[in-house]
Amino acid sequence: MVQQENLLPKINKEQLPSHIAIIMDGNGRWAEEKGQERLYGHFHGVESVRDIVEGAAELGIQYLTLYAFSTENWDRPQQEVEGLMGLLVDTIHKEVPVLNKNNIKLHVIGDLNMLPHFARIELNEALEMTSHNTGLNLIMALSYSSRWELVNAVKNIGLDVQAGKIDPHTINADTLQQYLSTSDFPDPELMIRTSGEYRISNFLLYQLAYAELYFTNTRWPDFRKVNLYEAIIDYQGRERRFGKTRQQIQV
Ligand code: IPE
Ligand code: IPE
Ligand code: MG
Repeated sequence: MVQQENLLPKINKEQLPSHIAIIMDGNGRWAEEKGQERLYGHFHGVESVRDIVEGAAELGIQYLTLYAFSTENWDRPQQEVEGLMGLLVDTIHKEVPVLNKNNIKLHVIGDLNMLPHFARIELNEALEMTSHNTGLNLIMALSYSSRWELVNAVKNIGLDVQAGKIDPHTINADTLQQYLSTSDFPDPELMIRTSGEYRISNFLLYQLAYAELYFTNTRWPDFRKVNLYEAIIDYQGRERRFGKTRQQIQV
């Protein structure tokens, strides 16, 4: 097994991605492979969240977005949805002191109106209690989907045009950016998906336009700092050209 001490020195601290986004996938399969209920996998997935948040903060990553629950996940069996909501609330409640200790500021993106009342209360409290922190920005994507976000943005732009607040002729990429739920954050440079699925599943479709994508077979409950380091080292070995030629990039 690769040790994290061996990988850490291989990371170039001058070339860290400022924003890493992760699709935390594979909790259910991890549990089923152990003959357990899917919720057992979600429960263990929380340990990975803790380890990765700590790892990102230690490295000095500025933004970490974790895809925790999609709009489509509401269609899962009721028992799993309720279990996930309970776990979410418990975890947030327990972790706020740790976030404060590590100077981590919590943010949430997604359709929070869909969340049960108790979850919204807990979340708002956690947002408030960590709002003064200045270190890592931890963005939880909850009841989030990119199509929901884009439709919402278009609707709000339309309303502001109607209200005379924007001239439609001036609408450009910056305008759209301001109406996204990620308006306060730079686009992710690195997107990681665990558990061997090669898809985006309605996550940050617009913001990932030029992200480097990293897929690993590791199931989320097994994902640890060492796996994060591997992803960052892989990212640092890539040539990001943004449509230009290699010669243009190298000057
Ligand atoms: C990711 O694990 C967590 C959520 C989507 C909430 P899954 O629950 O999707 O696990 P698999 O993909 O079924 O193994
Ligand atoms: C994506 O995983 C959503 C989260 C990790 C929260 P899913 O397990 O829901 O995605 P699909 O269904 O495999 O595309
Ligand atoms: Mg899944």
